[in-house]
Amino acid sequence: MLVPRIVTLLVAALAANAAPASESASSADSQITLDTELTLGVKQTPNIENDTAVDANQVAKGYDLVNVSSTARGLTGILKLKEATNLYGYDFDYLNLSVSYQSDERLNVHIEPVDLTDVYVLPEDLVPKPSVEGDVNSFDFDNSDLVFQYSAEDFSFEIIRQSTKESLFSTKGNPLVFSNQFIQFNTSLPKDHYITGLGESIHGFRQEPGVVKTLFANDVGDPIDGNIYGVHPFYSDQRYDTKTTHGVYWRTSAPQEVLIEEESLTWRALNGVIDLYFFSGDTPKKVISQYVNEIGLPAFQSYWTFGYHQCRWGYDSVDELQSVIDNFKKFNIPLETIWSDIDYMDSYKDFTNDPHRYPKEDFKKFIESLHENNQHYVPIVDAAIYAPNPNNQTDNDYPPFHDGIDSDVFLKNPDGSLYVGSVWPGYTVFPDFLANDTQDYWQKCFEDWYKDVPFDGIWLDMNEVSSFCVGSCGSGKLEENPVHPPFAVGDVPTKYPEGFEKTNASEYSSVQASISATASSSASSSSASSTSIDSKNTLAPGKGNINYPPYAINHFQGDHDLATHAVSPNATHQDGTLEYDIHNLYGYTQEVATHKVLLEINPNKRPFILSRSTFPGSGKYTTHWGGDNNSQFRDAYFSIPQILSLQMFGIGMIGPDTCGFNGQSSMELCSRWMQLSSFFPFFRNHNVLSANPQEPYVWSSVTDHSKQTINIRYLLLPYFYTNHYDTHTTGTPLMRALSWEFPNDRSLAGADRQFFVGDAILVTPVLTQGADTVKGVFPGAGKDEVYYDWYTYEKQDFEDGKNTTLDAPLGHIPLHIRGGYVIPTQEPGYTTAESRENPWGLIVALGVDKSAQGKLYVDDGESYEIEESLYVNFVAANNTLLSSSFGSYDASQPLANVTILGVDSKPKNVKFDGNSVDFSYENSTLFVTNLEQQTSDGAFAKQWKLTWN
Ligand code: NOJ
Repeated sequence: MLVPRIVTLLVAALAANAAPASESASSADSQITLDTELTLGVKQTPNIENDTAVDANQVAKGYDLVNVSSTARGLTGILKLKEATNLYGYDFDYLNLSVSYQSDERLNVHIEPVDLTDVYVLPEDLVPKPSVEGDVNSFDFDNSDLVFQYSAEDFSFEIIRQSTKESLFSTKGNPLVFSNQFIQFNTSLPKDHYITGLGESIHGFRQEPGVVKTLFANDVGDPIDGNIYGVHPFYSDQRYDTKTTHGVYWRTSAPQEVLIEEESLTWRALNGVIDLYFFSGDTPKKVISQYVNEIGLPAFQSYWTFGYHQCRWGYDSVDELQSVIDNFKKFNIPLETIWSDIDYMDSYKDFTNDPHRYPKEDFKKFIESLHENNQHYVPIVDAAIYAPNPNNQTDNDYPPFHDGIDSDVFLKNPDGSLYVGSVWPGYTVFPDFLANDTQDYWQKCFEDWYKDVPFDGIWLDMNEVSSFCVGSCGSGKLEENPVHPPFAVGDVPTKYPEGFEKTNASEYSSVQASISATASSSASSSSASSTSIDSKNTLAPGKGNINYPPYAINHFQGDHDLATHAVSPNATHQDGTLEYDIHNLYGYTQEVATHKVLLEINPNKRPFILSRSTFPGSGKYTTHWGGDNNSQFRDAYFSIPQILSLQMFGIGMIGPDTCGFNGQSSMELCSRWMQLSSFFPFFRNHNVLSANPQEPYVWSSVTDHSKQTINIRYLLLPYFYTNHYDTHTTGTPLMRALSWEFPNDRSLAGADRQFFVGDAILVTPVLTQGADTVKGVFPGAGKDEVYYDWYTYEKQDFEDGKNTTLDAPLGHIPLHIRGGYVIPTQEPGYTTAESRENPWGLIVALGVDKSAQGKLYVDDGESYEIEESLYVNFVAANNTLLSSSFGSYDASQPLANVTILGVDSKPKNVKFDGNSVDFSYENSTLFVTNLEQQTSDGAFAKQWKLTWN
């Protein structure tokens, strides 16, 4: 029974915080909010928390393999169920097994029921399959790095690495379970394994024994170890004994759970088929590259996207946006892009602007003036479309809803009626990106809106897909027209900045104001869920019990119901596909559609999309941010492993909400985090509604500290962009784990408090409060590696394997250059466009053997079809630096200087193409300057040689 509807007035406190100040939303009429009862799911006990739950490995009987035949690329056979146990679904009697050696480095094991009537098979046109390389009818098995072995009786299989004879994956000793709602297999792992991947989640980089990963897209504020926005069923297994790494990908959109134990990994899914891909590596970077090449190489982003981005929830008007931009300028902090959260919308409806706070003309003028200054604008678009009150003419005048109804593009209930959930604007419907006309519909929505709001990119939010009520709560009730539920904001472990000292009166009063505002708006958000109804989790034939699958995964919503805070599993797509089967794909399908739309709008500009929910292949279309983190030091730390993992998953550009989303940031945290994020692929500061402002200019020290590292980032833009180009063409991540760069050093397994940018820059951030030193490791130092301090260029006396304490007072982030690399730079400007116009420079960090190499990629920075580009190679050896270029892009700026680190004695002569040039020498660093005249046609217009003797 439903509790009586809550009737609220939009009280002043709420209006001040959340609702627009416009007449439309601050009307004095009473309005209902969503009934709390409608947000409650059925409470379930996750199997992993249920001591009485049956362990399928102990009970299931497995299959025998019969009818095995060899094929040109592997083998096929039939798996025959030994005895049904029907533990968490009805076991299939017969399965088809097919094994295909797809290339020398990749092997596919595919198992699916012979009768596919009730089985969801992920279509290849939705999520591409890695395909067979070369002639499908022949293969030289001797060349394969991977070998498939099996035992037919009590079927099990093993993947062996041919070169080392080591077993990479082995299901021996545990039965295969394959039923309509539960698939399980298990592999043994070596003791002390080093598994990374399996996301998206907030966790250290290593997935150590005891971890249980739930893979089910979820709108929740970054809990440690809970399932969050994206789903990536891929892991990398780095073996130090054999110095090899391999990768495993299960191509499935199913809700999943992965259990990692001391010597095994158990993988479970609630639907679909087994479609496993093994990548032989054999280095971590090769594994990533092999995987990412198959799921889709990361989209190439425009140059400007590497600039600094400012965002917050709560920029109330176009005037406020302008004042933020003015403040950045006033304090001379580079600002590339200003973002809008849902504040700009008219009552939180997609594709609208609030007529009072964001009036069309002012808004457009504002964006145009940004563009004149080479700055950019990115607004948010939520997945859900407002379903208006049919009885209210003004409300009902909303084309994105009616056009969608006319072209039949929204998700449905099983009975064919409209599925109506609830998100910020009230009742909402959800575009079905599998429906025939959704692409056209989506395009029209954007095109119409773009005329008024000429955005530079789109931020896709709430696409897990999130809905605040359970089930189709608005069906038949559109005229009730509830307002959005009160925003639950500031609900974080501490409402004060971390380590906040209440005796600091001025800080106390400013924080206090925002807390009281927050409290009034979050009052009704908690739920007293119904009592446990595990009896609902019962077996059912056919597709099964899709709302309450017999096996309950540990979904991180209070009651663990799959329908809580999301569109429910029984929502139905136009082609009959159940949301249950492709819930994890909603964001991905929206990204594909939005990418197409942006290309239609600007055919030759690289689409920029930032999206919350991702899946294998998303990186081809979108960038990503880390979601709703907290303004806490631990979250600054977690942003490092989160980025490393997402890069493994092929998301080329990613970064966190810098300074923290939920809760109050502090001067110290924001200073540390701004400096840290300056070295992440994507750099945006974003904040929750009603928390204190946290733009870098809010604190004078953060202003200084941010400027310092933003300038370093901008100086390094050519290096970032070149590395990003590499990511786009090879899949190799821009930001690197130490264990990827030094794969044979076991002591680095799991090191995730430091990272490399590209090959050459090692970042050692302070991640704890109150510290003024930080410990770091410098792999190979004193042996075959050498490190130089970024700021002094001095060669460091680090020792390999030793934790070294570095000075790191507030405002200083330790950065080191790894010898052996040449880093291209360009003098920083206020925007990336200005930076691109400035002279070039090179930092040549000589390695132990006094050599170095590097490269540079240049193009116009934005074309989708790249017609002209320039590739430059740098090689330094024997006191000579050689630059050779090829390609037609004209990078007309001259070379200003070359700085060479690790030059043992002062040279007598320094010559550029045989001509003596200006130089100075200090502390083993050679500064070659004033090269502009010699390179006035462009730094890399021709091959040149610099010598020092
Ligand atoms: C949730 C997003 O994760 C957050 O970044 C955004 O500010 C809010 N939605 C409001 O749109």
